[in-house]
Amino acid sequence: MNLTSHPAWESLTDQADTIPHLAELFDEDPRRAEKFQIDAAGLFFDYSKNLITEATMKSLLELANAAGLRDRIDAMFRGDKINTTEDRAVLHTALRAPRTASIQVDGVDVVPEVHKVLDRMAVFSDRIRSGEWKGHTGKRIKNIVNIGIGGSDLGPVMAYEALRHYTDRSLTFRFVSNVDGTDFAEATHDLDPSETLFIISSKTFTTQETMSNASTARDWLLCGLGGDAAAVAKHFVAVSTSAEKVAAFGIDTANMFGFWDWVGGRYSMVSAIGLSNMIALGADHFRDMLAGFHEMDEHFRTAPFDRNIPVLHGLLGLWYSDFFGAQTMAVLPYEQYLKRFPAYLQQLTMESNGKHVQLNGSEVDADTGVIYWGEPGTNGQHSFYQLIHQGTRLIPCDFIAFAKSLNPLGRHHDLLMSNVFAQTEALAFGKTLDEVEADGTPAELAPHRVFEGNRPSNVIMGEKLTPAALGRLVSLYEMSVFTQSVLWNINPFDQWGVELGKVLAQRIIPELESAEEPDLQHDSSTNALIRRYRKLRRA
Ligand code: F6P
Repeated sequence: MNLTSHPAWESLTDQADTIPHLAELFDEDPRRAEKFQIDAAGLFFDYSKNLITEATMKSLLELANAAGLRDRIDAMFRGDKINTTEDRAVLHTALRAPRTASIQVDGVDVVPEVHKVLDRMAVFSDRIRSGEWKGHTGKRIKNIVNIGIGGSDLGPVMAYEALRHYTDRSLTFRFVSNVDGTDFAEATHDLDPSETLFIISSKTFTTQETMSNASTARDWLLCGLGGDAAAVAKHFVAVSTSAEKVAAFGIDTANMFGFWDWVGGRYSMVSAIGLSNMIALGADHFRDMLAGFHEMDEHFRTAPFDRNIPVLHGLLGLWYSDFFGAQTMAVLPYEQYLKRFPAYLQQLTMESNGKHVQLNGSEVDADTGVIYWGEPGTNGQHSFYQLIHQGTRLIPCDFIAFAKSLNPLGRHHDLLMSNVFAQTEALAFGKTLDEVEADGTPAELAPHRVFEGNRPSNVIMGEKLTPAALGRLVSLYEMSVFTQSVLWNINPFDQWGVELGKVLAQRIIPELESAEEPDLQHDSSTNALIRRYRKLRRA
């Protein structure tokens, strides 16, 4: 049975139509805040300012149970091949499991393998950080450039920015992802090749953008170091699942850090894909981050659903997507170091849950996938918050904040946090026409100054942004996305939707590069665009 025909779904449809205003819900129940708050796995989750009642949560939890969420969680953590369209296990949780754990894939315990790679990464990172690893000309490595895209870029960039406070500031880190040559050129323009290490990060080692940037990096290096191909060994390492392709590219597999097909790209930042982060942070901080992930993983795996932060977070996302028609959600970190977190979440949520068919191939019958966007607070307040407060669309918000600043400067942190609390308050309770008029606002202006309120938000608060706190936060979202996928009965671990564009681009490349005018067989728009490009390029 599809969940949309479940009695709880019908009840939720009614509830969405009749739910009282948040101001009323708070007035009615003085204990509302404590009923809808959880303090677990190092994070405080306040979801009381959502358009929910106890009945709503009961119905959402009924759906979770009806969808078999418990079994699906167990299947994922056990290593069952739940990525059915690719016939793979899904075990990013094994990447952060302690050494003492044992998790079997096809009869093999993967935990010792995971820790073997982590140990090799730690040795390598120490050699770079201590200066023991030298470049081809004998100089110490000072610049590390990660080349990768999608999951082989967004996680490392986000974590580098998020944990910059903990990084070795004598090293420079750059991240190149786009096939647009500007990305490479700007990332390397001020770097000395003799002091630069490239980490080529690609699960498949076939991705066009990454392989093009890797070739350009090799040319750049050899050009800068006099053309001796032996230099590659000291300036290139690879992170991949394919030793064969790494060797074919010319990187010594002794300088390769592997991972496994049961790690999805967008779930790979805690695999060797995080090598640049380990070099930046040092192995101990990297392991602290893994411990934070594991703590939230365990909370998700073991906590009852009504006390389970990722489960509740995921259910709330589904509630707004499917019962209120919310098109997007804002993620608003009141922590400057999390400036790349929204971009990271976009791949996590949209590549995972942007699916139109269920596991059995039949069409879904509810909207899937949550569209996240956002900017760090308070910048967003002076940009797009107007629409969230007074626009016509419902945009549920996640506010993320930490009680202690890593840069305590005068009053700054209290000012920052006052905005978190004020924004959630304003969104929920607004300002009525009576209140506006009571302020003495002229009648003709009064409607413009009314805030309807009743706009939902979550607050996710931690003590301080540490490597462990980042791990907990990312795992929370990973597991929230998983929860939603189970209710939608979709596979969050494949990404066939990115394939068609790649194939078509391969066909178009020779049409752009050929000296002869190509015989174009596309639609009239695409033909005209290609012709115009060829003409303008020559002009
Ligand atoms: O965009 C599709 C995708 O396959 C992502 O899922 C992945 O993170 C990215 O490309 C990069 O892939 P790879 O690590 O194999 O280069």
